[in-house]
Amino acid sequence: MRVITSCDEDIRAAAEAIKAGRLAAFPTETVYGLGGDAFNVSALARIFEAKRRPRFDPLIVHIADLSTLDMTAETGSLAPSLRAKLSLLCRNLWPGPLTLVLPKQPAVPGLATSGLPTVAVRFPSHPVAQKLIRYSTGAVAAPSANPFGYLSPTKASHVQEQLGERVDFIIDGGNAGIGVESTVLDLTEEPARILRPGGAPREAIEAIIGHVEMGSLPTHAVLRAASCAAPCAAPLPAPHSPGQLASHYAPNAPLFLHDAGAMLNLSFCPDEAYLFFDEETRGEWNMRNAVDADGRIFTLARGANTGTVDKTLEAAANLFDILHIIDKIKPSAIHAQKSPDAGLGAAINDRLTRAAAKRR
Ligand code: TXA
Ligand code: MG
Repeated sequence: MRVITSCDEDIRAAAEAIKAGRLAAFPTETVYGLGGDAFNVSALARIFEAKRRPRFDPLIVHIADLSTLDMTAETGSLAPSLRAKLSLLCRNLWPGPLTLVLPKQPAVPGLATSGLPTVAVRFPSHPVAQKLIRYSTGAVAAPSANPFGYLSPTKASHVQEQLGERVDFIIDGGNAGIGVESTVLDLTEEPARILRPGGAPREAIEAIIGHVEMGSLPTHAVLRAASCAAPCAAPLPAPHSPGQLASHYAPNAPLFLHDAGAMLNLSFCPDEAYLFFDEETRGEWNMRNAVDADGRIFTLARGANTGTVDKTLEAAANLFDILHIIDKIKPSAIHAQKSPDAGLGAAINDRLTRAAAKRR
């Protein structure tokens, strides 16, 4: 494994590795991705192996040019109303933190899509990601560059610590700006459905294509529970988004999620870590507990006098990095405050809820 810079020559070296079926981790505007050639089955197998990711969890195919969308997705088979929405979204939110689930082109290997008839496609806005895709094969399959189920990486050092020798190159492009993964939007059925809240807020999507449904139903965890409870029941429906497990994005320590009121009622325990959404709540809690500053107390949004949506932007950018830092101090538990739901808050709360599900 080599950590390389984001200069043109280094990106070209990583692109050559991808062309040869090897793996390169790279920055995107959301989180770091673990990239391999989307059309090379052995590269895809390496991605699943490196992440220890179950094969039922399909990958996102990254493109860097609208004209290559048709290499991966069969957009012609969409209903006319959905085709119109696709073109509006491409024009307004691509490139950017939005992944679209579309009918798959037969040429995309079933391994990339876990055998689904659909493919998830994303056009990232990060210039390094775009160059890597263009210099390699035009279609790069890339999950977040973390071991399956663990915190997503927002800097090169996270990838290095977590995947090490399981990746050939890591392009260091500094901090990922948004900090939570892309929004996954299913565009194969009306109404369109957000399967995973992420970097493109629901409000921004609805402003362009109107109402969208929320939630990937049912999750695998639900399916598993249901099949245990009722072994003779009729076959269960396929999950909308197989990777959306109840437990995911989790630090090692058990995480407990609280609203602001419940957070304020917690008393300080020196073994535990505390993750506040904003400085106001943290300040009030500090006073109640007579704790000033401590290496176990963190705040996601420190900026003063900003609106809620601005605060969720700052909070999202800090979320995974702070959780990585907290995990290193090995607390016996992490208490986290919920974010307001506006803007990127829905994605933050989604990740924290899944992290909290791990301890069950
Ligand atoms: O921001 C991101 O999306 C990052 C960067 C690297 O681009 N990538 C990322 O990939 O988060 P990953 O593999 O960690 O998450 C992909 C999500 C999973 O929840 C998966 O189940 C869902 O997308 N997905 C992929 N293909 C799908 C499909 N055909 N139908 C429904 N969901 C799909
Ligand atoms: Mg992931």
